[in-house]
Amino acid sequence: MTTNLGSVQAHYASSDIARRVLAAVGGAGAPTPDTLAPVDHFHGGGLASTRELANLLAPHRGERLLDLGSGIGGPARWFAATFDCHVTGIDLTADYCRAAEALNVATGLADKVRIVEGSALDLPFGDENFDRAYSQNVVMNIADKPRFYREARRVLKPGGVLALSNLAAGPAGAPYYPVPWAASSDTSFLSTVAQTREELQSAGLQIVHFEDTTAKTLQMRRAARLKLESEGLPPLGPHVFIGGRLREYQINVSRSQEEGRLSSIEVLALRPA
Ligand SMILES: C[S@@+](CC[C@H](N)C(=O)[O-])C[C@H]1O[C@@H](n2cnc3c(N)ncnc32)[C@H](O)[C@@H]1O
Repeated sequence: MTTNLGSVQAHYASSDIARRVLAAVGGAGAPTPDTLAPVDHFHGGGLASTRELANLLAPHRGERLLDLGSGIGGPARWFAATFDCHVTGIDLTADYCRAAEALNVATGLADKVRIVEGSALDLPFGDENFDRAYSQNVVMNIADKPRFYREARRVLKPGGVLALSNLAAGPAGAPYYPVPWAASSDTSFLSTVAQTREELQSAGLQIVHFEDTTAKTLQMRRAARLKLESEGLPPLGPHVFIGGRLREYQINVSRSQEEGRLSSIEVLALRPA
């Protein structure tokens, strides 16, 4: 099974993203990674989830990080500003890359965050290039996950680590579609928690930390669903660039997780020295 990259791009395509994000956030001074955070972290849990991933990744000042599937660049800017790192983000969706570049300039971070348009399955980087890598809610679009992990391993320096936070297949059947990453099962590729472990190991990565976070996040998911159902979308969120369809997407993720149709995981894997 191969990913239809064109269909993935079509799902995410949007226009005039940076202008809409900046207008929504408003404020007097220049935007910062923190003021943009309610909108530009495009994954469940938003900035809180990125902070949790950062605790796992534990980057050091001056290191070179790689963000696989960087979206409109919120996590990349936040990592660069918080840890004084250089972050390279790669993303398949041209509209997101252009938005990320514009927001890098608006936040004064263009010299610390580089955006490359391309596929994480075919990284345009040399071997052993990055100290650390991370990816949030991207592998659900990837059919060939061993290849995704092999590419991440190849570009990591020996001793470098990859942190992952994403959704996985649950034990109770397919999720309800549409979801934020896919309109239907055509572009959604979900491994189980156990398969994820095997895929990482088969790509030559060593598991350092592996946590099924489903139970831990269930309350938050349920509360988010009830709020979305009763009050609708909040003033700020990724719907600023995705549109009102995000409400249905998020409700479906929550319902699916509550019914055991989706699991969530956090992983830290090492490229052995
Ligand atoms: C749900 S968004 C998450 C964006 C970002 N990681 C974040 O947390 O804000 C998923 C992203 O994965 C990207 N993506 C999907 N397949 C990809 C691939 N093969 N290579 C690079 N990016 C990909 C999409 O373009 C989209 O920006």
